[in-house]
Formats: sequence, structure tokens, C-alpha cells
Amino acid sequence: MIEPFTIAILGAGLGTRFKSKRAKLLHSAGGRRLIEHTVRTATELLPRKIFVIVGYQAKEIIETLSAPPVPSGERLFFIRQTKPMGTGHALRCGRQELETAAPLLLVFYGDTPLLRAETLRQFLEFHSQSTAAASVMTAVMEDPTGYGRIVRAPDESVKQIVEQKSASPEQQAIREINTGIYCFETRLLFVELERLVPDKITGEYYLTDVIHLLNQRGKRVAAYPIPDPAEAMGVNTRAELAQADALLRARKARELMLAGVTIYQPETVRIDADVEVGADTVIEPGVSLLGRTRVGEDCHIGPFATIQDSELADHVTVKQSCVIAESKIASGASIGPFAHLRPEAEVGEEAKIGNFVEVKKSRIGRGSKAQHLTYLGDATVGENVNVGAGTITCNYDGEKKHQTVIEDNVFIGSGTELVAPVRVGKNAYVGAGSTITMGVPPDALAIARSLQTNKLRWVKERKKKTEKQPTEAMEPVDEIFATQQQSGGSKGTKLGKAAPRTKGKIKRR
Ligand code: UD1
Ligand code: CA
Repeated sequence: MIEPFTIAILGAGLGTRFKSKRAKLLHSAGGRRLIEHTVRTATELLPRKIFVIVGYQAKEIIETLSAPPVPSGERLFFIRQTKPMGTGHALRCGRQELETAAPLLLVFYGDTPLLRAETLRQFLEFHSQSTAAASVMTAVMEDPTGYGRIVRAPDESVKQIVEQKSASPEQQAIREINTGIYCFETRLLFVELERLVPDKITGEYYLTDVIHLLNQRGKRVAAYPIPDPAEAMGVNTRAELAQADALLRARKARELMLAGVTIYQPETVRIDADVEVGADTVIEPGVSLLGRTRVGEDCHIGPFATIQDSELADHVTVKQSCVIAESKIASGASIGPFAHLRPEAEVGEEAKIGNFVEVKKSRIGRGSKAQHLTYLGDATVGENVNVGAGTITCNYDGEKKHQTVIEDNVFIGSGTELVAPVRVGKNAYVGAGSTITMGVPPDALAIARSLQTNKLRWVKERKKKTEKQPTEAMEPVDEIFATQQQSGGSKGTKLGKAAPRTKGKIKRR
């Protein structure tokens, strides 16, 4: 049985060691801001209330925690610490709200993103069963540098916590450290907080000094060694941020694998905390699944694909090195390799988006294909449309974006430019190499390209000419242009005669 409790999370510090313009707790690991990790963990425990002590960049931290997907709800409150005068001072700033909130106060720091709710629950149970005035979660670290050291009394209780900067050489050799996670009898804590004095070296009011003050009064402080010390890791530098990120991603990948997702070389993938992946989906090495991405069942995500804030239904294939953002892909569709789906791309069932194809703010209907080297922007493509290689929607006139509509069963020949706004009606064909500037009626064939001229015997004539005047082989460039312009028409020139017109032939690929 756990007594009613409230949680206080400290997050007002500057994060000096982070050397950043941004507050340390606004940096991300495992796809979430540090402060978001800790507040979510707190929320899972269902405390009476959660108080976050904010100071440096308070506005940004409050905004981060108030926006979805942080499920903080009505339990979340903020306390201001206007000047970062130490962890003890931070709690003192919330005296009014905290003192009466619940008989127990669980305190931890905003920079411990690996902490799990289950571990905190066990800690609360431990404290509730003990008679101690406070409990401290401790960890034995390989390298305890930077952490406060736990000095035990002969009866194994915690006598004192000594900060790194104040520790004697013998104390520095202690490998049991303070995780910064405490459980206090609320009333007793606030009595001692009033008695804190600034640290001699830093001038800060240390929360850790409360442990010594409680001992002075004859109150006992219990130690609770954390089962997995990695969970207690505090992020103080960017090197530690990278470490925490790697651990969080390993945890996420493992979770997914245990839920039926195949991940090859999981140490190479980056999957954000909020990503969902269905069973029997296969994830190849180097894949990034970011933000609020949802991947269905039986999908295959090829190597080095990066997918952000997107929805993939079941049976979707994403081949190697695709970049996909804020897009929706329906069941059975295939993307890539090397495709780029930009925001608001919607790919229909069984549709195929092939290599070097870019799609932006466009809907591609069921069964339609754009397999090679194409740009589709601001377009609506119907069902069973074939978009030939190298097709481009010219959606931007230098000022505004315009729409292209391609209706069902249309065939667009390779190398077509569709100058928007433009509509190609149902079942229509567009000849390869066309520049379409007017609408194409349903069932029509549109060809919009200059006619071909064949200059018969051109090569032989040229050869004869150059043999007669060998210097002409080195014609200056502008003369070459002049010759080309003259010979552009259907009349033919001294170099040859116009060829008879051949009918444009359209071949389905
Ligand atoms: C702290 C502990 C140390 C422990 C370690 C565990 C103290 C004095 N030291 O050291 O014993 O081993 O955590 O990770 O508590 N904060 C405020 N207001 C302030 C100062 C800090 O809200 O005036 C917040 C910070 O935003 C941060 C947290 O308190 O989230 C901890 O501060 P930090 O400077 O990281 O403490 P450490 O030096 O890591
Ligand atoms: Ca810290």
C-alpha cells in the first residue's frame, strides 16, 4: 500500500554544462524532450498532483508540456523559481503548494529520462513500508564522478550526501551515488528546507543537505538501491545526451521486437518513443522512424529509409533510402527506392511510387504508378493512372501554386510537362514529351511537341564539306548556333532536306 503522494520535478536550472542557448530539458533523447520523459513517467504513477519547478526558459517548457501528445491532463501544475539558487531552494519556492498537497512527496530531477514508472512505484512501496522520514534512491556506478556520494551510517541508513565538489578523497572513492530521486514525509521536509544554508563553494541551497539535517534531528533516512543503475543516469552534457538517446532507442527497439516486429541490426535504427509498428513488419538496418509515425502490420521498411510523422497501412513496402514526411500510404502500396514523399502526400492502395520520384501535397489514387524520375506537386491523380518517366507537374508560376488533376485510367507519356492549372480527363492519353498547357478532354489523345525533322544524308554532307574546308572543323560557337537556328524549320537547309512527317506513336511501358 502506497500512501497518497504528490510529485515534484525540478526543471528550473540553466544546464550550464550543456553549453546551449536552449534550456537543457528542452533537448531531445529517444525522440522526446528530456522534460517530457520525466513528466510522462510521473503521469503514469497517478499521483495526486504533479508540480514542475520551472525557471530558465519557463515559457518554452510550459508550452512543451501543455501541447499534445504529452498526456499531462489536469494533474500538472507549475511553480516558478525565478533564480536558480539550488535544488533545495527550488523546492522551497513551492512550499505553499507542496506542503499541503499530500503526506508523501516524491521528488526527482527533470534530467533523468531513463527512469521508469515501475521503478518509482517500487521505491514508493519501499518507503511506505519503512519507518524512515525520507528515502533516497541510490545507485552503484562504475564511474561516480559528478554525482553526490552516499555516506552511510553504521546502521546502513543514509547519514549524509556529499556533492562531488565538496567530497574528500575518501568520499570521492565511494561508488554509491545519489540518483536525485527522493521520497519525503512532506511535513518534515519543509521544516528542514527552512534550515538550509548556502553551500560554501557554490552558494547554492542543496536539497541533498536536508539528509544531514534530518539525521541531526534524529530522523532516519533509508537507502533504496535501484535495480538497474543505467535508469538513474542524469544528463548533464551532450555526451550524456547521446548516451541516453542510444539507451532509449535500444529500449524502444527491444519493446517492438518483443511485440513481433523484426528488426535487423537494431543498434543502427532510430525509432522515436511515440512510434507504433505492427507485428510481422520487417525493419532493415539504418532506418529512422520518427515523431508520430504509425506503421501497420506486414510492412517492409528498406535500409536507410527515414519516415517522419507518417501513417503506413498494412502490407506497405518502402524500399531503400526513401525520405517520407507527414504522408499517408495505403495498404499494398510500394515506395522507392530513393523516393521523396513530402508533407501531405497520400498514396492509394496498391499504388507504386518508384525511384527518384518526388510527391508533395498530392493524392495518388489506387493502383496508379509513377515509377521513375517524376515530380508530382499539388496534384490529384485518379485510379489506375500511368505517369511516365520524367513527368513533371509545373505547379509554380513564380508567385502561386496551381493544381493539376489527372483523372482515372489516364496514360501520361514519358517526359511530359503538365503546366498547372490543368486537367487531364478520364481515359485520356498524353503523348511522350508533351508540354500540356490546356485541358485534355476525356478519351482524347493530346500531343504537344514540335514535329521531328529528319535531315537525310546530313552526316555524309557534313563530312564532304569539312574535307573541302578543313579549317571549318573548328567553327566558333556562335556560328554553330546560327546554323542550328536556320535549320530548325521544316524547309531543310543546305545540309539536307526535311523528312516526311511520321505519325506520333505511343507505346505503353
Ligand atoms: C544533482 C544532485 C546530486 C545527484 C545528481 C543526480 C544536488 C545538489 N545534487 O546534481 O547529488 O547525484 O543530481 O543526477 O541536488 N534545478 C532547479 N533549480 C536550481 C538548480 C537545479 O530546478 O536552482 C534542477 C535542474 O533543472 C535539474 C535538477 O534540478 O533538472 C538537477 O540539477 P543539476 O544541476 O543537474 O544537479 P547535479 O549537479 O546533476
Ligand atoms: Ca543532473
